[in-house]
Amino acid sequence: MRVLGIAGSPRRGGNTDLLLAEVLKGAAAKGAEVKTIVLNDLKISPCQHCDACFEVGVCRFDDDMQMVYKELEKADRIVLASPVQFMGVSAQAKIMIDRCQALWARKYILKIPPLGDRRPRKGLFIAVGGMKLANLFEPSLAIVGALFKVLDIEYAGDLLFRGVDEKGAIKKHPDALKQAFIAGQKLVED
Ligand SMILES: Cc1cc2nc3c(=O)[nH]c(=O)nc-3n(C[C@H](O)[C@H](O)[C@H](O)COP(=O)(O)O)c2cc1C
Repeated sequence: MRVLGIAGSPRRGGNTDLLLAEVLKGAAAKGAEVKTIVLNDLKISPCQHCDACFEVGVCRFDDDMQMVYKELEKADRIVLASPVQFMGVSAQAKIMIDRCQALWARKYILKIPPLGDRRPRKGLFIAVGGMKLANLFEPSLAIVGALFKVLDIEYAGDLLFRGVDEKGAIKKHPDALKQAFIAGQKLVED
């Protein structure tokens, strides 16, 4: 069981990073092989809508996204973590998501599995926002829901925390990190 964590925050050791690390610890405690990709450390160009991927199901840009495609293909479980930024996911996460257009092309144009095989995959979404708005996570949930659907990743759940702003503030939450650890265990058990 391979679990891929995708860290979408520009802030290393920030709130979503801390939650992601706990999810992966929980998964590892159940014997899963875990790996984290930090999007902010990668060079990934935004999708140019050139439609080259419609021909071959592969993006023509030879940048770090090529590594991300390979990791997504290898993973059985995907955990995407992003802070809320201007009501949506971070720019780092959105650029990666948009580059999954090549995987959309595999599925809907070329009629081949988006991640290379049809093994069941599951995904978990982690998001944290500083505000306490009731609809704070709606745009991010729509975006990540679309991503998982296109990639044939079953939406296994999410960890969403509002009113958490300062770096590391999630540690003051009564049980967020514990919830994350348990979610990681559950993700690889189900
Ligand atoms: C550019 C930017 C935009 C943000 N936009 C929002 C927002 O729309 N709503 C919100 O609740 N918090 C917003 N925040 C606050 C972050 O979501 C919050 O600080 C979060 O805890 C950061 O998580 P991280 O430590 O994992 O990066 C924004 C922060 C930044 C830097």
